Amino acid sequence: MRAVLLLLFNLLPLSSSFIIRSFVPSNAKCNSTVAVSCFAELFGMISEVCQQREISFRCVHYTFLDECFEARVGKCDAGSVARVGAIGYKQALSSCHSSKKQKAEGTLPILGAPAQSFPSPVQLISALGYLQTQCSLSRSKNCSSDHVHNIMAQCEEQMKPLAGYPQYDRHRLLRIKMDTSKKLLMYDETDKERECLVVRSTLSEMYSLHHANCYHSLVTRCLCERLRFDVQCGINCDQLEPTSPDQDTLAWDEWKEARLVHGNGSNFKQFAATLSTLFALSALALLF
Ligand SMILES: *[C@@H]1O[C@H](CO)[C@@H](O)[C@H](O)[C@H]1NC(C)=O
Ligand SMILES: *[C@@H]1O[C@H](CO)[C@@H](O)[C@H](O)[C@H]1NC(C)=O
Ligand SMILES: *[C@@H]1O[C@H](CO)[C@@H](O)[C@H](O)[C@H]1NC(C)=O
Repeated sequence: MRAVLLLLFNLLPLSSSFIIRSFVPSNAKCNSTVAVSCFAELFGMISEVCQQREISFRCVHYTFLDECFEARVGKCDAGSVARVGAIGYKQALSSCHSSKKQKAEGTLPILGAPAQSFPSPVQLISALGYLQTQCSLSRSKNCSSDHVHNIMAQCEEQMKPLAGYPQYDRHRLLRIKMDTSKKLLMYDETDKERECLVVRSTLSEMYSLHHANCYHSLVTRCLCERLRFDVQCGINCDQLEPTSPDQDTLAWDEWKEARLVHGNGSNFKQFAATLSTLFALSALALLF
């Protein structure tokens, strides 16, 4: 039985490292000190941790852990992962307590607030195991598959209850804008450079919506690939898939190179301001 199970696991495509393993060789290295810091870093970026609300894990969280383990930790068995995860969670929780204390010194703590210990090791393992099956292939996934079509639709559905209909409507309008740009780019008369600026700006707006609302993290990349903006506008679509939960902003270097950053909106506002100045100038040019 065990041999059959092992065989099954060996047959699975091992395109990336897996955090939750059914079998770890006894000589495998698992640096639990670093593993704790991977989890602490991750939980430190999840706002629900400090609010002591239930965490809704998404693929971007899994990707971050996967890369952290792959690069720095090694191979750990599921029990160790649960243990270091719980320690990392407590570390993140205590550092938000201390930063809260610094900010709001003198205010009364809420008495009787439950000291939650979510997630329990079992919950954590099952959440990670689930993410692993759902997300591990994400970064290499061929955007033309039906599976990815469903992911896009699923994301818009998620936007309705999570962010309210205004965001859902805004996303649909942005998609129309994208489709319009794609069609315009097929005409020789279209000023490609200017239209591609619109495409970049629209992609940035859509990225923020996807990052905040989508379970899967490949949505913006696949949209870019599907609409062939790599060919039409020279956009490196590969770079539109986040590897860390705090990469909430899509910025552009010199209008060309995509860069996912943790912004407070300032980068994007600056970009939008430059863009509207550009439009105002070209509108002026048309008048004269
Ligand atoms: C774990 O990694 C850290 C940093 O790379 C290192 O200082 C430490 O000695 C390692 N621990 C073990 C047990 O290998
Ligand atoms: C993606 O899948 C389609 C259809 O299965 C195939 O024609 C295409 O070559 C694939 N692209 C890549 C980059 O693998
Ligand atoms: C966030 O805003 C502050 C002040 O407005 C600015 O100094 C800082 O560089 C910004 N950070 C980023 C990542 O844009």
